[in-house]
Amino acid sequence: MKIAFFDSGMGGLSVMHHAMKVLPHEQFVFYADEDNVPYGTKTREQVMYYVGQAFDFLMTQDVKAIVTACNTATSVAVAEMRRRYSIPIIGMEPAAKKALDLDGEHRVLVTATPITVRGRKMELLIEKVDKDHLVDRLALPDLVTFAERQEFRSPAVTDYLRTQFAAYDFADYSALVLGCTHFNYFKDTMREILPDHIRFVDGNEGTVNELIRRLRECDALEELPQTVDYFYSGRPVHEAEELERIRQFMRRLDQVYAI
Ligand code: DGL
Repeated sequence: MKIAFFDSGMGGLSVMHHAMKVLPHEQFVFYADEDNVPYGTKTREQVMYYVGQAFDFLMTQDVKAIVTACNTATSVAVAEMRRRYSIPIIGMEPAAKKALDLDGEHRVLVTATPITVRGRKMELLIEKVDKDHLVDRLALPDLVTFAERQEFRSPAVTDYLRTQFAAYDFADYSALVLGCTHFNYFKDTMREILPDHIRFVDGNEGTVNELIRRLRECDALEELPQTVDYFYSGRPVHEAEELERIRQFMRRLDQVYAI
């Protein structure tokens, strides 16, 4: 059986990219809701509906687990999806705890989509982990649009990030949390803009570790030749041009993986 990765768009590839390295004998399904991306600027009701549609589809694909490789979809819909389906559903939350654990004295800037930043799940997370009130939150919705059109490096991206970061004195901060899977594509520009001591923290490794733990628990890890089936909003992706677009995203992830 296969492991599904689901995202509003191409951000979730950053999580699957890591999973493909550490699970070389598993078969994957990647579902990007390309008809409806971005989620982060829509209403919670809309996002719940889209996620429901995607999960209904994925459940027809012989999958043994679904990784919601999207912080926004997790924030809105993962609890409801767990009520509806009994297979392991792994969600993603901005890695604020991991960032605080690395330092614990300096501030941490959590970046995510507007829905994630404002969501109840984020409030609960902060209540739980941010005892010393060190966490600030910043929504960066335009990065999702830049990523989807593969504008990874450009003066517009640099200007956008400089403007958004201008209000923060990064001497007080130790880390920047990438709380949206689309943000990984911009790590090199962020690295250039931010002081060297700022560490980037994302939830990709933790999410994949949790996936492995859950699969091991139900003895569901396999030894198969690695494959990936791609779907855009329920349509299989076969066209050479679209597959090449996906390969470009994967190459981009190779470039920024070590940053
Ligand atoms: N990649 C998604 C996340 O991790 C959401 C991007 C969007 O659709 O706004 O939050």
